[in-house]
Parts: sequence; structure tokens; C-alpha cells
Amino acid sequence: MRLLAISDLHLASSINRAALDALPTHPEDWLIVAGDVAERLETVSEALDFLAQRFAKVIWVPGNHELWARPSLDEPAGVARYGALVDRIRTLGVVTPEDPFPVWPGPLPEGVARLVIAPLFLLYDYSFRPDDVPIDRVVEWAEETHNVCSDELLLSPAPYGSRIEWCHARLAEAERRLTDEIPSGSHTVLVNHWPLRRDVVRIPRVPRFTPWCGTVLTEDWHIRFSAYAAVSGHLHTRRTDMRGATRFEEVSLGYPRQWEHGRGIVGYLREIVG
Ligand SMILES: [Fe+2]
Ligand SMILES: [Fe+2]
Repeated sequence: MRLLAISDLHLASSINRAALDALPTHPEDWLIVAGDVAERLETVSEALDFLAQRFAKVIWVPGNHELWARPSLDEPAGVARYGALVDRIRTLGVVTPEDPFPVWPGPLPEGVARLVIAPLFLLYDYSFRPDDVPIDRVVEWAEETHNVCSDELLLSPAPYGSRIEWCHARLAEAERRLTDEIPSGSHTVLVNHWPLRRDVVRIPRVPRFTPWCGTVLTEDWHIRFSAYAAVSGHLHTRRTDMRGATRFEEVSLGYPRQWEHGRGIVGYLREIVG
């Protein structure tokens, strides 16, 4: 029985979709899906339904792509879209950031007495930008190298006035739940589409994309909430970084050009606990 993780399946691609269809069943394992499954609500729920039938439990957090609302599609936007996703996904038996935090029932790593998995939806507040770029210039600065995230056009924060406000509201609620709902003495697996620390973001090919990658307000969450591991995606740069005693796992599959098709998706399932 293992706790596995992947993110950024980007199933609008037919190559990625076919690879998902070929994924073998893992009846004993749990799977974390850390966002960017697809853009269409229907595609997201079909994929999670498929995975829920192949793993003992699936835990999902949204990425920015799930939250994109194209005006041409008659789908909800902003907080209403997130709510619609959660409603659909819960009916599949998949754990969302709005559900009680599941406790890992499998074998525990050494020194861990209890492991609580905390799926989070925290967004970003542009604070991963360099210190010398003012917040009101951040989009213009990123535009100079064509690194502006499409969220600027497609990720509505409604009814919040900005993605920053939505991010800060999400942070406050997550902080409350992590403080109140996790028994003392537990370790956690913190799951969020966006990485929790600026120093694990290494994206030399799109260096000015960092403002859309997280918030400095979570820099110490791995310490505050005793994280055994922090699982994220979004960057499409698979890697493992240690910060103190915590493993920071970037678990993206990514677009077809970013992974070796011969390995299949199974070759990219990262073992978090096993
Ligand atoms: Fe992605
Ligand atoms: Fe993303």
C-alpha cells in the first residue's frame, strides 16, 4: 500500500488522455492528483471518476487550468466554478480541499506516528515576483518576455475583487483548518497545486512566470504544520527538494513534449509513502 502523487495531467491533449486510459489499476494504493487535470468540468470529473475506480482512494486539489472559464463555454467562473468542481468531484468519492483531512492508513515512515493528508487550494498573490518589481508593474514586467500567465484572462476571482484577495481568503481558511483539525503529534502531507516556497521554483525557460506560482505567506508552513512532504505541480519541472526535514515534491506530468511517452503515466507516479 503506497501513497502516490501526480499532477498536471493536461488531458486536453489526446496523447495524455490515451496515456491515462492505459494506466493500470492500483487497488491498494492512494493517489494524490495535484491539479491541472483539464479545463472542461466534464473532462475533469470523467478523469477523476476513472482514477477513483483504479485506486483505493483519490485526493484532488484544483490547478489553475480547472478554474479557467472560457466565455465561449457556458460554464461557471470564479468561486462558483470551484464550488461546481467540488460538488461534482465529491460525488465520485474523491477527497477535495473542502473535505475532512484523510489519515493515511498504510505503513508509516520512521519517526511518524500519524500522517494526515491535507489537500489545499491556496492560489497565488504575485509575491514570488522579484523584490524590485512593484506589484502594479508585475504583468507589464512579465509581458516583456512573454511570460504572462493565461490566468490573467481566464481565471476569474469573482466575487472576490482580485486573485490576491481570493488567495488570502483561502490562506486564512486553510490556516484555521490546519490548526484546528490536525491532532498534535501528527505529521502532514501538504498538497497544493502551487509550490509553498519560492526557493523551490526553478523555471529558467519562463523566468518571469514566478508571480503566478505561489505566495511567500506559506514559506514556513512545512515547519508550522510538521510536513513530512509537500506535494505540488504547476511548474512542469519534476523534482524533489529537501527543506529541513520536509521533502518538496514537484510531481507534474506536463504537456506531451515534457515527458517520455514510453514510460507511460505509471512511470511518473511519485511515491510519497511506500
Ligand atoms: Fe500545468
Ligand atoms: Fe498550473
